[in-house]
Amino acid sequence: MQVAVSNQVPGILGDCGGSCSCATCHGYVAPNFRSRMPVAESYETDMLTCAMGVSEDSRLTCQVIVTPELDGLVVRLPTR
Ligand code: FES
Repeated sequence: MQVAVSNQVPGILGDCGGSCSCATCHGYVAPNFRSRMPVAESYETDMLTCAMGVSEDSRLTCQVIVTPELDGLVVRLPTR
């Protein structure tokens, strides 16, 4: 989320500043990267219930810690 906001990526608002309380940073992580990041904690999955169009690829991008293992990560954004 912070990378997207800092680079003015449209569609990632990050209204709560990354405190996992708004779901305006919802994105879809490319399936081949899901196993390279920790699974979502319960507070993230709970907040995802507030997002639209949630799928198994959904993450709150503010909860994704960028590590070298995620080099090349692709995150698609919801259409709305
Ligand atoms: S920025 Fe608010 S939940 Fe991610």
